[in-house]
Amino acid sequence: METRQVNLEDANQQLRQFATVVNTDHAVRQIDSREHLRVGIDLGTSSIVLTVLDTENRPLYGAFEYDHAVRDGIVVNFMESVEILKRLKTKAEKVLGTVLKTACGAIPPDTGDGATKIVGNVIEAAGFDCRQIVDEPTAAATFLQIESGTVIDIGGGTTGVSIFSQGKLMEVLDEATGGFHMTLVLAGYFHISSEEAEALKRDPKRETEVFSIVRPVVEKMAMIVLNATKIPTNEPVIVVGGAINFTDFVTTFSKTLKMLAQKPEFPQFVTPLGIAMYDHD
Ligand SMILES: Nc1ncnc2c1ncn2[C@@H]1O[C@H](COP(=O)(O)OP(=O)(O)OP(=O)(O)O)[C@@H](O)[C@H]1O
Ligand SMILES: [Mg+2]
Repeated sequence: METRQVNLEDANQQLRQFATVVNTDHAVRQIDSREHLRVGIDLGTSSIVLTVLDTENRPLYGAFEYDHAVRDGIVVNFMESVEILKRLKTKAEKVLGTVLKTACGAIPPDTGDGATKIVGNVIEAAGFDCRQIVDEPTAAATFLQIESGTVIDIGGGTTGVSIFSQGKLMEVLDEATGGFHMTLVLAGYFHISSEEAEALKRDPKRETEVFSIVRPVVEKMAMIVLNATKIPTNEPVIVVGGAINFTDFVTTFSKTLKMLAQKPEFPQFVTPLGIAMYDHD
């Protein structure tokens, strides 16, 4: 059976717009101080991202900082997370000329009440009124407007697979593999530090060479997904997360999966933007 494809044009347009302002000290447009803004906070393994949308869910502003305060999707350094988030909040308020009062956060699925509490506490300690903690794949699916299908989020340290049917999350899987494993493979191959390998991995001039070395990691990721879950073969399969930022990622991944996966532009911002969509009454 053919894998159904979704139209990602709307999502891509929002992602492109968000990408033009992220970490630039600019907003997409001027804000009226009476406007209600929606704030999303993604405490990731690789970075902490803050996103701001208007009430129509249009991206206004975004910023992130790399961090090591979260491991395998769980906050391991509370104070560091709070400090980073406070900095991001102060910067955002300066650019937008308004106070950000509320925010939403997210956790990987099935991480339990403890994780929800910690993420909520980080957000509150940074000075927000935390309105809701959602699960990450649901946030991604909401942003992508996926009712039925599979969302695969490959971040720094985790790969999450979430199967949706008519808007309901039916099955989740979380595996401890992600972009960091690609970095480790590169570090081993070139006998360099993981910091050097991380920079090499992101160097667009070296992409062809880098991808030929990390290709087996991508195939392994697809095998893990294939063996651990029963993905509906006729519904869309969307891959998101920073680790998929290679031109040939989706082709390689789809081949092993034997399903035609789709990738939005700037896939690392899908979940953070989806989280902000929940910051309303
Ligand atoms: N241009 C790029 N090329 C290759 N890899 C990239 C690129 N940009 C980011 N990455 C990788 O993406 C990963 C981070 O992705 P993402 O921001 O989705 O993770 P996260 O949400 O912080 O982590 P997690 O979801 O695992 O908690 C890192 O391993 C990083 O090296
Ligand atoms: Mg993530």
